[in-house]
Amino acid sequence: MNTGLKGKVVLVTGGASGIGRASCLKFGAEAAKVVVADTNAEGGEGTASRVRQAGGPAIFVPCDVTRASDVEDLVRKALAAYGRLDCALNNAGIAGPTARAGDLSEHDWDSVLTASLKSVWLCMKHELSPMLKQRSGVIVNTASTAGLRGARLAAAYSAGSHGVVGLTRSAALEYVADGIRINAVCPGIVDTPMIRSQIAGDAAREAQFRAASPIGRMATPEEIAEVVVWLCSDAASYVTGHAMAVDGGRTA
Ligand code: NAI
Repeated sequence: MNTGLKGKVVLVTGGASGIGRASCLKFGAEAAKVVVADTNAEGGEGTASRVRQAGGPAIFVPCDVTRASDVEDLVRKALAAYGRLDCALNNAGIAGPTARAGDLSEHDWDSVLTASLKSVWLCMKHELSPMLKQRSGVIVNTASTAGLRGARLAAAYSAGSHGVVGLTRSAALEYVADGIRINAVCPGIVDTPMIRSQIAGDAAREAQFRAASPIGRMATPEEIAEVVVWLCSDAASYVTGHAMAVDGGRTA
């Protein structure tokens, strides 16, 4: 498959770890120029250096996606480094606490919704501006299967993910005539540091996570990255406003 990503400028938030890191490496393998953004400088520099070792250009930009000034600065630095912005994966997020809706504190609610939903809007707001000038671009937002159905003990996370899906679909309609495609990827359970911290070495919990999907295992971050790269590629040129489950049959 010719992805058409060679030489394209790609920005990935949450690029220090998990799905974001796997996506950066896959974009790098497609010879894209990669801008890695994260609050975790060590992990972010590590990802950028692995992309460079594989032969592609990459920079790390420290960025807290919940802060408007950081996000503005991130896009400015991407443009200063590579002159344009072709694709963005808005992926940084947090899981939030495990509790019933009524037991969440106002602080829990605000922090999960800010980190998982407002952050995606902030990133889109600043990414769309250069894409509008170019009259081309592709945005992929990481939502979750919790954005397609309810998730017990994760109401704030699920509300945020549903919000990302609504934001994605609405913005896709608004910008399709400007040559910009916007989609969401909705992973099931993916074996990343986020999930490992929830498993916390408990074999029974890990078995529950495996059994939660009909396919009988968790996804690897690379399996999500494959779909992200495809959504950004020329092969997906007619795909916009779509929330694509990548979940081993979980929502089927
Ligand atoms: P991860 O914990 O491995 O990676 C998340 C990255 O985002 C980390 O490097 C972290 O430093 C960064 N990050 C968090 N808050 C940030 C902020 N405010 N500003 C900048 N960077 C920030 O997690 P994973 O699993 O790779 O998750 C990536 C995305 O995928 C998240 O939005 C998550 O909600 C979503 N997701 C994950 C699933 C899973 O099972 N692992 C399932 C469905 C969705």
